[in-house]
Amino acid sequence: MMASDQAIWHTEGSEKRQAVQRMFGEIAPSYDLMNSVMSVRLHHKWRRLAVQTLQLTPGERVLDLCCGTGDFLAPLREAVGTEGTVIGADFCLPMLDKAATKFKSERLAQADACQIPMQSGVVDAVTVGWGIRNVPDIDLAHREIARVLRPGGRFVSIDMAVPKSGFMRWQSNLVFHRVVPFIGRLIGKGEAYKYLPKSTERFKSREELKASMEAAGFRDVRMKDLFFGNVCMHWGVKS
Ligand SMILES: C[S@@+](CC[C@H](N)C(=O)[O-])C[C@H]1O[C@@H](n2cnc3c(N)ncnc32)[C@H](O)[C@@H]1O
Repeated sequence: MMASDQAIWHTEGSEKRQAVQRMFGEIAPSYDLMNSVMSVRLHHKWRRLAVQTLQLTPGERVLDLCCGTGDFLAPLREAVGTEGTVIGADFCLPMLDKAATKFKSERLAQADACQIPMQSGVVDAVTVGWGIRNVPDIDLAHREIARVLRPGGRFVSIDMAVPKSGFMRWQSNLVFHRVVPFIGRLIGKGEAYKYLPKSTERFKSREELKASMEAAGFRDVRMKDLFFGNVCMHWGVKS
């Protein structure tokens, strides 16, 4: 158990916010390594694919929300060029510190996805990688993302998903409920890596996420499964 006596994946609201913030603070030093192990390094490819869906042009202004250690920042910078603006935002300082050591010249800010400290309509695109599942109020975060985007601005989010096929669900259970927490225990972070499969089970379905984006003001919402349906990407355009 973490500091609270309730498992993180059962927390809600402000309790979830604090528990998630604390958990990412604890795993920040091992986050990049675990990410590469769990995704067999495919996570870099998926972020590039997500950035492609945005069809960014040089000079545009993009926000990477829940940026963590910043792995979206490099493909975003490539897409908007030196004349563009890339901002990484996360509410967890140890994750931001890691991002700052990796991407020394990018702009980083401490911010909550449910209360983005930006004026309305000021960014051309928003990315979120494996962040939406962790916020205490997904509908509110989608509304905040829509608010900071200009009309016609684009949004893409990648996150974990439950595979549709029974066989893949069985395999994923084995990998994410047993192997990943086992590796997590080896590095002394067993509870945090139990959170990944547990929070994925409790996460909105693909269709619910799409509906939440549409309700927040996105049109042309599309989705694509990756990694045999263990990961799903959603993207859309601010109306
Ligand atoms: C799984 S990590 C993903 C990091 C990064 N986007 C990536 O692609 O590797 C999730 C990140 O979301 C951040 N996060 C979770 N809830 C948040 C919230 N309410 N506001 C801002 N950041 C949040 C965490 O601090 C963490 O850095």
